[in-house]
Amino acid sequence: MTEQTIQLADGNKMPLVGFGTYLINTQDMMDTTIKTAFDAGYRLFDTAQLYRNEDFLGDTLVKLKIPRDQIFITSKVAEISQGYDNTIQSINASLKRLKTSYLDLLLIHWPVQEHFFDTWRALEKLKEDGKVKSIGVSNYSAAHLELLKTQAKEMPVVNQVELHPYLNQRALVDFDKKHHIVTQAWSPLGRGVTLDNEMLKKMADHHHVSVAQLILKWHLQHGVAVIPKSKTPSRIVENHQLDFDLSEDESGMIDLLNRNQRTGNDPEIVYETGKQYKMYEE
Ligand SMILES: NC(=O)c1ccc[n+]([C@@H]2O[C@H](COP(=O)([O-])OP(=O)(O)OC[C@H]3O[C@@H](n4cnc5c(N)ncnc54)[C@H](OP(=O)(O)O)[C@@H]3O)[C@@H](O)[C@H]2O)c1
Repeated sequence: MTEQTIQLADGNKMPLVGFGTYLINTQDMMDTTIKTAFDAGYRLFDTAQLYRNEDFLGDTLVKLKIPRDQIFITSKVAEISQGYDNTIQSINASLKRLKTSYLDLLLIHWPVQEHFFDTWRALEKLKEDGKVKSIGVSNYSAAHLELLKTQAKEMPVVNQVELHPYLNQRALVDFDKKHHIVTQAWSPLGRGVTLDNEMLKKMADHHHVSVAQLILKWHLQHGVAVIPKSKTPSRIVENHQLDFDLSEDESGMIDLLNRNQRTGNDPEIVYETGKQYKMYEE
């Protein structure tokens, strides 16, 4: 892999900039976006059982004939597939859809109280069996990670959470760092809502980059990995061209935009109910 990578606590390497595939939900769109992304330098492709596109991604990767060791595939166990046996069976099905014998990274999509420890035990077993190289979580708070630590044989190496200038999760990023967990930002652009910010526009103009590029660079300079999604070829390319630097002052000004504004669900509600509750999307 020529991509810029970060070392995970288990010794594996993960590309810092990956491609998110949520809402890439036709074979044609998958073929076009993944080819564009691969040619632009992306090597990490992020999917999930919940996106119902693992089979499209698998077909595209077969068609592109990319050697398996040249790419990094992440998938996630859906809430409905949690529990020890269900997780193992559902990942065997994911591997079939993705047409691969292993995942580079498997995440628990959301913490669910009912299956909290059993699902993690299944991930440890899948890693032991060589079906996944690295195991991690998504949408876990510091409290969820502390709870997991009471029974886990090994801790997650990645925590993928919603993170963008309007929800900078600084305390969680610091917690993750202290525990050797890489934070990976989902909706790193806030699903587009951060892109109209006037201060960000001025700062981006100053660097002759787009607001999206500015935000993605801000993430990387905080040690946070990113998985922006776009179905637009020019944006896919642009989101991978991050060869400029922000000063500490500029980065600090972006930090000040935090307003704890979520575009997605509150993990605590999903933890309690076992389901994604669409309170922010209605
Ligand atoms: N773990 C989780 O619970 C979770 C939850 C949500 C998402 N994710 C993952 O994170 C990935 C990214 O998150 P996301 O898709 O929610 O949001 P995002 O990447 O923050 O934003 C995507 C939106 O921004 C637009 N966009 C992208 N690049 C742009 C650019 N350079 N200029 C202007 N607009 C741009 C896209 O438009 P177009 O597509 O129209 O170009 C799209 O509307 C997902 O695809 C998924 O893989 C994980």
